Amino acid sequence: MSVLVIDNIGLLVTGEPSLGEGPLGLVRDAAVVIDGERVASIERAGAAGDERLDAAGRCVIPGFVDSHTHLVFAGDRADEFAARMAGRPYAASGIRVTTAATRAATEEDLRGLASARRAEAVRAGITHLEIKSGYGLEPEAERRSCAVASELTDDVTFLGAHAVPPEYDGRADEYVALVCGEMLDACRAYARWIDVFCEKGAFDADQSRAVLVAGRDAGLGLRVHGNQLGFGPGVRLAVELGAASVDHCTYLSADDLAALAAGETVATFLPATDFSTRQPYPDARRAIDAGVEVAIATNCNPGSSYTTSMAFCIALAVRDLRMTPEEALLAATRGGARALQRDDVGRLAPGARADAVILDCPSYTHLVYRPGVPLVGTTVIAGRVEFSDPLGARATSPGNAGGSARSRR
Ligand code: NIG
Repeated sequence: MSVLVIDNIGLLVTGEPSLGEGPLGLVRDAAVVIDGERVASIERAGAAGDERLDAAGRCVIPGFVDSHTHLVFAGDRADEFAARMAGRPYAASGIRVTTAATRAATEEDLRGLASARRAEAVRAGITHLEIKSGYGLEPEAERRSCAVASELTDDVTFLGAHAVPPEYDGRADEYVALVCGEMLDACRAYARWIDVFCEKGAFDADQSRAVLVAGRDAGLGLRVHGNQLGFGPGVRLAVELGAASVDHCTYLSADDLAALAAGETVATFLPATDFSTRQPYPDARRAIDAGVEVAIATNCNPGSSYTTSMAFCIALAVRDLRMTPEEALLAATRGGARALQRDDVGRLAPGARADAVILDCPSYTHLVYRPGVPLVGTTVIAGRVEFSDPLGARATSPGNAGGSARSRR
């Protein structure tokens, strides 16, 4: 197997405190030695290997781990977004618009759309992602979504309980029975997780519990959409049932924070959603200070957050959720991995999957300092270059003159 070296790294974020300085495990003038799909070792710059990727003195970070996306959908809701910017509130009923378009699409259409979005995410430095179903809302359409998602990731989430479809209006409990029965049976083979939108206007605490318990009995791990549009039972239900993550957490009461701090459930913030829906931002500082384990994710979906930019989420997390740049970067890497209960991604340490991003800048702080600028130069996934910016290094970044040249030794 050939050995690839990412060499001449000015600042390496390993994400592993035992390997370097501070919580990010920083190493200067470093090289990452990759054997096949895995990191073999972290060395001084100039390490030997068969192939060399020259970071030209720039910053290298672990690839972003996006633990919350809805990439499988058809249709467009730009008009709904524009109406919101003009003052209309966000309504979860928009899910039905996407459901109609997704049901009308073929599996081949959905495969093309989801793959293109995954490629966009890779260009934005995302090296591992979770993908939810949830825009089919009938057994075959949900099965198709899960099947397409499973071609792109091993973290597929069955989200039949995303909304009650129109044909079940006034019969939400019957729809929950369908989700827990025939729909779960059709989807479970493709999925690792089950999720429910526990919110006023979606599913209440009893219905959410029924969905989660059915999923757990089918061998799936648990995730919850909770506390997005107001205070509610989602967070505490997630902690009580031992969910891996509860996502949104825009409204957290003191009791929610205490439950999260005492439990094992990661609180995943989705700041691009609060941006796109004009919601207040959650106070991540308060959660971190209370001892809550946190992650941030893009929540890429056509309604409430149509972005694959983790850098944008990091910038919001620092600017508006009051995280430090270090906390935000950890939340987008190690935090995402923890929210998916994995330790093979989200860090650059011996044995981990070799998922790395060469940034076109000298420090990860530029992700926040230069908002909106595409700073991802090269994305490496499992030891393979999956994206390389054809424009190369940017003129304004010191020490960047050479770009990220690849050469054979
Ligand atoms: O996570 N909250 C529920 N689901 C998505 C939004 C879905 C939509 O509006 O299409 C979310 O924000």
